[in-house]
Amino acid sequence: MKISRVYKHDVIILGAGLAGLRAAVEIGRKFGDRVDVGIVSKVQLMRAHSVCAEGGTAAVLRPEEGDSFELHAWDTIKGSDFLADQDAVFRFVKLMPYEILLLEHWGIPWARRKDGKIAARAFGGQSFVRTNFAQDKTGFFEMQTLYDTLQRFTNYKRYDEFFATSIIVKNNKFAGLTAIDLVNGEFVLFIGKALIIATGGAGRLYRFTTYSHSVTGDGLAMAFRAGLPLKDMEFIQFHPTGLVPSGILITEGARGEGGYLRNRFGERFMERYAPKMMELAPRDIVSRSIMTEIEEGRGFEGPEGLDYVHLDLTHLGKEKILERLPLIRELAIKFAGVDPVKEPIPIRPVAHYSMGGIHTDIDGRTPVENIFAAGEAACVSVHGANRLGSNSTAECLVWGRITGELSAEYALSHEFMFREDEVLEDAEKEAKRIEGILNKNGKENPYEIRNELRKIMDTHVGVFRTGEKLEEALRIVRNLKERFKDIRIVDKDLRWNTDLVSALETENMLDLAEIVILGALMREESRGSHFRRDFPYRDDERFLKHTLAYRNEDGSVRIDYIPVNITYWKPVERKY
Ligand code: FUM
Repeated sequence: MKISRVYKHDVIILGAGLAGLRAAVEIGRKFGDRVDVGIVSKVQLMRAHSVCAEGGTAAVLRPEEGDSFELHAWDTIKGSDFLADQDAVFRFVKLMPYEILLLEHWGIPWARRKDGKIAARAFGGQSFVRTNFAQDKTGFFEMQTLYDTLQRFTNYKRYDEFFATSIIVKNNKFAGLTAIDLVNGEFVLFIGKALIIATGGAGRLYRFTTYSHSVTGDGLAMAFRAGLPLKDMEFIQFHPTGLVPSGILITEGARGEGGYLRNRFGERFMERYAPKMMELAPRDIVSRSIMTEIEEGRGFEGPEGLDYVHLDLTHLGKEKILERLPLIRELAIKFAGVDPVKEPIPIRPVAHYSMGGIHTDIDGRTPVENIFAAGEAACVSVHGANRLGSNSTAECLVWGRITGELSAEYALSHEFMFREDEVLEDAEKEAKRIEGILNKNGKENPYEIRNELRKIMDTHVGVFRTGEKLEEALRIVRNLKERFKDIRIVDKDLRWNTDLVSALETENMLDLAEIVILGALMREESRGSHFRRDFPYRDDERFLKHTLAYRNEDGSVRIDYIPVNITYWKPVERKY
């Protein structure tokens, strides 16, 4: 297999969700045609998973009513179980209001209060009502607004349905990106002065998940293989309310609007676990509470072992549900056969977000100076061990903007680092690797390997963890990696080869699973979303530190640690 084409741009943005689009818009509006951008995405532009974000976007917009940057920062840091970098959190909360207003100017239909101001709803762990929203389709409207705004500019070219396979780093500088052009069936090379990785998380590692099928952690795995460290990957967020049996997100906005969680005795059981914040405690706490109810026999029996509790909205009334939560109603009717106006919704905790990601500094810059990361793919780190709801879309906007601007400035002040023939050499090697996988005729079915992986992540690396289960999961994942070497790819054509793409995704997922499990095994404490039954307390003495996972030459994983930036508040016990 040969490289069919070489595309050259000043800045390459990999991933076209909220963070990627926000970066592209920032470059367009600040630099115009002076900086030429390539946007590479494995799906069509408006198909990125960000469109699935529902509940809203946090920002301090109402200081005169009692909110403040300090309060938003405190909620975020306490919510993170003190693993967030506090300087990054302060930067985040201060930049957020501007993002909400920018989107407003670009035409987003934010919900309104009676006085005409932008409306907000309550969200978990946020001690002030600061989650700004557009119905229960906030991500979709944000994406649409950014996409629309992008149309004003002429400095970018889109590469939709290009599946990236490797990031080429030479002498610790970004040199290029290889990809399969799925539509034309070509293997291509992108050369850029700077790269922004905005590929989102890795939630399809789990079987019961809110993530779209496309979210397989490709950007994270490629970065790792290129020598970039991944940070805090053991922290996987389980959202309390995944619709049973599909796993589709039922927004926290449903509880923000007043919904109750009830067990099979009709009790609002959150009273036992978070008597002050009840259903609006942070997600890690609510998810553990639901699982405890289920494990102690106070849940309902569900299909395929998916036992559940109820999310009850019936007391909100039809009018409010139709105005504020129309998507939730539609989803519950179509995917669970219940109308929330009349009946409670069956829900249970569901894999929803990767707090970890590619290690960056506060500017979104990775250890390779011309590679940036933004959004869920990055770990800046604002969310620490547990993200608060509605801080994610917000983070995408803030660091989309920052990395857009910085990457463009970098491109303007630097020449291309390498000659085309130098990068081509590396790209040809990658083409050979991909050809090797395409030609595999072994006895293992890669789809079965993927299924087994996702199953073990659900059962062994979930809300509650133990050393024993994690060790078993690690053994199984390493065995799956061995088996992957002997896979069979049935379709041998490069054009829209979903067989090949799925196998490459599975390879990425296997690498990431090993990192998640190893980090979880070595973190012998409980913090935020990472709860070890054999180490049930937070241990600041040993583990108030970020985990970094590096790739050794032989492909194995090396774990290291770096300190947390504690610039303002000393860690205290978390109570809600
Ligand atoms: O519940 C939700 O709407 C999810 C929001 C988030 O993850 O920030």
